[in-house]
Amino acid sequence: MRSLYCGEPNETHLDQEVTLCGWVHRRRDHGGVIFVDLRDHKGLVQIVFDPDREAVFATAERVRNEFVLKVTGRVRSRPEGTINADMPTGQVEVLGLELEVLNAAETPPFQLDDQDVNEELRLRYRYIDLRRPEMQEKLRLRARVTHAMRSYLDENGFIDVETPIMTRSTPEGARDYLIPSRTYPGEFFAMPQSPQLFKQLLMMGGVDRYYQIARCFRDEDLRADRQPEFTQLDIETAFTDEDGIMSLTETMVRKLFRDVLDVSLPDPFPRISYAESMLRFGTDRPDLRIPLELVDLGDVMQAVEFKVFSGPANDPDGRIAALKVPGGSNLSRKVIDDYTKYVSKYGARGLAYIKVNDVAAGREGLQSPILKFLPDDVVAAIVERTGVVDGDLVFFGADKARVVNDSLGALRVRLGVDLGLVEGDWEPVWVVDFPLFERDEKNNRWMALHHPFTAPNSDDPAALVADPGASLSRAYDMVLNGIELGGGSIRIHNTDMQQAVLKLLGIGEEEGRDKFGFLLDALKYGCPPHGGIAFGVDRLVMLMAGAASIREVMAFPKTQTAACPLTNAPSAVAPGQLIELGIHLRKPPEVAP
Ligand code: AMO
Ligand code: AMP
Repeated sequence: MRSLYCGEPNETHLDQEVTLCGWVHRRRDHGGVIFVDLRDHKGLVQIVFDPDREAVFATAERVRNEFVLKVTGRVRSRPEGTINADMPTGQVEVLGLELEVLNAAETPPFQLDDQDVNEELRLRYRYIDLRRPEMQEKLRLRARVTHAMRSYLDENGFIDVETPIMTRSTPEGARDYLIPSRTYPGEFFAMPQSPQLFKQLLMMGGVDRYYQIARCFRDEDLRADRQPEFTQLDIETAFTDEDGIMSLTETMVRKLFRDVLDVSLPDPFPRISYAESMLRFGTDRPDLRIPLELVDLGDVMQAVEFKVFSGPANDPDGRIAALKVPGGSNLSRKVIDDYTKYVSKYGARGLAYIKVNDVAAGREGLQSPILKFLPDDVVAAIVERTGVVDGDLVFFGADKARVVNDSLGALRVRLGVDLGLVEGDWEPVWVVDFPLFERDEKNNRWMALHHPFTAPNSDDPAALVADPGASLSRAYDMVLNGIELGGGSIRIHNTDMQQAVLKLLGIGEEEGRDKFGFLLDALKYGCPPHGGIAFGVDRLVMLMAGAASIREVMAFPKTQTAACPLTNAPSAVAPGQLIELGIHLRKPPEVAP
């Protein structure tokens, strides 16, 4: 239907007759002449209709924003003074000779160049929202990224294998989305939280190198970087170890950034242990662009009178740590109160601080409501360990280690952003040496930090059982700018070890057989050593696009409450459908269709 895209006409087309199709971005009447900015996925071009061509002009008078047009016209230079150097088509305009309205449009619910449209409205009319040039750009970026992933993996001998969406629940720690079975009343399929077990079975099936751009489903609390339905680049390889997977995939990520964004990432990526990351950054996904670190003070606080500090200092599960804020002594009372409120969201019961006015003056040079509780040697140790200089401030967190890590870890990032301390654009890091288990104190049991199929770094099940809390795993996470991009591990490939781990997790032999009998069997029939990783494609594209949420890089995302305003899903279903499935609702649906 068209000879050029709207974003294409330029001086090389002068005097040519072109046919363009697109949407009316804007229409202006100017003293008898009508200007239409016509838009498609490639850009905008200015069309001019003059009253000399009466029929065409009359049609042009009728068109409104978002009408769909086909225009044939002649490319000409724009008059002096109306040239727009910022537009690729800004040197020229098209004199409209023929005009066909392919479709009319009602007034759109929002203007495409309005930057403040409510997200719910954008999602309800996503097909209009997607017409925005910035949304088009994000979709194209996403396609370039997945294309580059596929070509890298194809070149490296991987094959793309699809795994079932209707499956059994695999334990990854989130709630499952369930699908009722009609043929087995009362029974359910689960949608996969990841293809984890199937990709392991593929290794047992001799596939050697597998990948899939796989949709995953998790019914969990949503945040800016979480959706109920999201996409993983899922990878698994036989006869490999940690270094094999890490070097293969960091090479892929480096290549992606070079090819798609023209950015060079470090080679190799730095690695940090889980323990060191918690100690220095309070989190296992450190944002290394922020040059602030937590400093431990437990040993010097044991004997202080101030119970808030000495309590955690003497508690094996406690932690007391300091966070130095360079130049922070000019933070106002109100700002400090705001930060105190911020850390309270992470369970912190306060946020003690010391302002450093004059280090050389000793106590006299410091200013703090808690100074009176701290003896000279403790004050000296704080000054020495944090390395404060005049004008700095030190925040303190004292509580259970988890609370201190969560609150000071989050405060560190917040301060980095608020005070403009973020350095550099891209800081990838591998986090390694995770504990295998995590203690769930409430329910008095061990939980897998990664998932139950991750191999411990010792081959001896007895050693594992003797001290589960001390065992490390062969897992690794790739973190970029404080966001967990991907995680994986070398897997257990032996039945005894798998059974020992399931048992430690409180999954008895019978339950283990019931839930994972197929896996335990498969381990017995010749399972190669294997391992893999999965990357969050939405998160990676979000970072590459500089977007604030993964919803911005998904064509049809769900809202924060896991609904789709466009299709109005989820929705009630006809009573007949429920009867067929053997489902009786406790509360009948509000509308019986
Ligand atoms: P994991 O659960 O760490 O590992 O998931 C891998 C990556 O997927 C992304 N991700 C999400 N993205 C958007 N919304 C969500 N709700 C969401 N949940 C996870 C993250 C994360 O790093 N089977 C293992 C992988 C393996 O061991 O190979 C797994 O699924 O970027
Ligand atoms: P209080 O003795 O409760 O008045 O607290 C004195 C100072 O210690 C205040 O600045 C509080 O914000 C701070 N504070 C109280 N509890 C904690 C805690 N668990 N960790 C860090 N600071 C705290």
